[in-house]
Amino acid sequence: MIGILLKGHDFNYEVSELVKLFTSEFKFIDCKDCMMVIENDLFFHNDNVFAKTSYCENYGVIYDHIEHRDLQGLCERDRKKVIKETIKRSIFKILEKKFKITPPWGILTGIRPVKIVHSLLDDNFNDNEIKEKLSTDYLIDDEKINLSLDIAKRERKFIYPLDEDKVSIYIGIPFCPTRCYYCSFPANSLKQFGSLKPAYVAKLLEEVQGVAQLLKEQNKSIETLYIGGGTPTTLSVDEMDTLIKGLFEIFDLSHIKEFTVEAGRPDTINRPMLELLKKHNVTRISINPQSMNNETLEKIGRSHSVEDIIECFHLAREVGFDNINMDIILGLVDENLDMVRNTLEKIKELSPESLTVHTLAVKRTSKLKENLEDYQLAEYEEMVNMIQLAKDYAKDMGLNPYYMYRQKHMLGNLENIGYAKEGHECIYNMQIMEEKQSNYALGAGAITKFVYLDEDRIERVENVKNVEQYIDRVDEMIKRKYEEVEKNAK
Ligand SMILES: C[S@@+](CC[C@H](N)C(=O)[O-])C[C@H]1O[C@@H](n2cnc3c(N)ncnc32)[C@H](O)[C@@H]1O
Ligand code: SF4
Repeated sequence: MIGILLKGHDFNYEVSELVKLFTSEFKFIDCKDCMMVIENDLFFHNDNVFAKTSYCENYGVIYDHIEHRDLQGLCERDRKKVIKETIKRSIFKILEKKFKITPPWGILTGIRPVKIVHSLLDDNFNDNEIKEKLSTDYLIDDEKINLSLDIAKRERKFIYPLDEDKVSIYIGIPFCPTRCYYCSFPANSLKQFGSLKPAYVAKLLEEVQGVAQLLKEQNKSIETLYIGGGTPTTLSVDEMDTLIKGLFEIFDLSHIKEFTVEAGRPDTINRPMLELLKKHNVTRISINPQSMNNETLEKIGRSHSVEDIIECFHLAREVGFDNINMDIILGLVDENLDMVRNTLEKIKELSPESLTVHTLAVKRTSKLKENLEDYQLAEYEEMVNMIQLAKDYAKDMGLNPYYMYRQKHMLGNLENIGYAKEGHECIYNMQIMEEKQSNYALGAGAITKFVYLDEDRIERVENVKNVEQYIDRVDEMIKRKYEEVEKNAK
C-alpha cells in the first residue's frame, strides 16, 4: 500500500484518478507513516508554480522530480488548470519510475481526450503546436496524439460550424432479452418486465409530445435521431411501428441527417422487424456480435451464436441496409489475441460500414464484477496488442477512426474507438462525444444534456431509471426539462 501525502493543495480527486492508472493499492495520508510514500509538495515563486514529488521507501528518498510552469498572465480558470496539470505531471513522472509502465494517455484521465484537441484547434494552434502541447503538457504518447488529431479533424467536418439551434434526440428502450455479464446499461429482462412494453411506448410518446413542444418554443431543429437501449428490437413489430410513427407525427423530423436504430442483439432481430425499420427509412442499424467466438458468447450470457450474427447480417443486407455498424468488446472473459483475431476475421468477411471497438470495462453493477474471480481477464500488454490488432483490421477493411472515448474501470484505462468507412460516420456519436450540441434524451434512465456553448457549460437532466416509475411519472420527466430551459431563459 502506497501512502500519498499532498502538501500545499487538496486536489485529492485528480491525484487519485491519476494514481489509479498505475495501481489501486494506495491511500491518502497526513504524515509519512507508511513504508512507501509519495509526497507531493506544491509551492509558488515569482508567479511560477512548482510541484515537487518524491517517492520514499523505508523513509529514504528513492526518486524525486520537480515540474514547474509560468502562470503569468493567466486568468483564474487557466491558472487552476495549469496548477493541476503541473501536479499531475510531477506525480506521473515518479509513478512511471516506480511501476515501470508508461500509460499511453499520460496524465489524461478524462473520458473525452479529443475535446482537448478541438479546443486547441479552436484557438488556432497548428498541428505541430498541438502535438507539442499534448506531449509536453499531458505526456501523451505519439501514437495516441496522432489518433486524437486524426479523429478531431474528421469530426470537425460534421460538428463545425457550431449551431446552437440544432439538437439530437435519443430514445431509450430499456429492455433486453437477458442481461449480458459485463453490462450495466438499462436492461430490464423481457421475462420479468416484457409486459410493460406497450405502456412504456405509450408513455414514451407522451414524453415525445412534451419535448416536441419544448423544442418548438425554442426554435430548435432536430439533426439526428437515435433509438438505443437496452435493445430497441425487443419491442414487437407493432410496438416499434407505433413508436416510429409517433415520433414522425409528433417531432418535426423533416431535416434529420441520420436515423439510427441500435438493433443490437441478433436474437431480437428478424425479417419483419428489419423490413419495418427499412420502411420507416432508418438509415443506420447496429448488429452487435461483441465476440465471434461461441464459447465467449455463452460465457457473457448472450443467448445467440456466431451463426445467428452472420445470418442476421445477411438478412439486413437483403432487406436493403447499406449502413450497418457492429460493436465488439476486447478483453472479454478468457479471450486471447487469437480469439480476437478470429472475431475480426469473421467481421472482415461481412464488411460492415462501421465497427465500434470497445475495451472491456468492469462495471460496478455488472454480474462480471460480482464474480470477477471466476474469470481470466486480459493483462494490460495483451489489451494493447488487441487494440493494435483491431486497428490493423479496421484499416484493412477501409475503416477510419472517427470518434473515441474512454471509460472509467477500463482495462489499462485505454480507449473505445468507432471506425467507419468514409461517408458512414455516425454524426450522433460524434456530437455526443464532443458535447457541442444539446441532446434531448427520452425514456427510462435517459440523461438529457443541455449544452450552453457561450458559457462553456453543460447541464444534465436525468429521467428516472426504473421503468415502472417512468411510466407513472412521465409528466415530471417533461417538467424537469422545461425547468432547465426556463432557468436559462434570457
Ligand atoms: C448500450 S449497449 C447496447 C447494445 C445492444 N443492446 C447489444 O447488446 O448489442 C452498447 C454497447 O456498449 C458496449 N458495452 C456494454 N457494456 C460494456 C462494458 N462493460 N465494457 C465494454 N463495452 C461495453 C457493447 O459493445 C454494446 O454493444
Ligand atoms: S450489452 Fe446490450 S443486450 Fe446486453 S445487457 Fe447490455 S444493453 Fe442489454
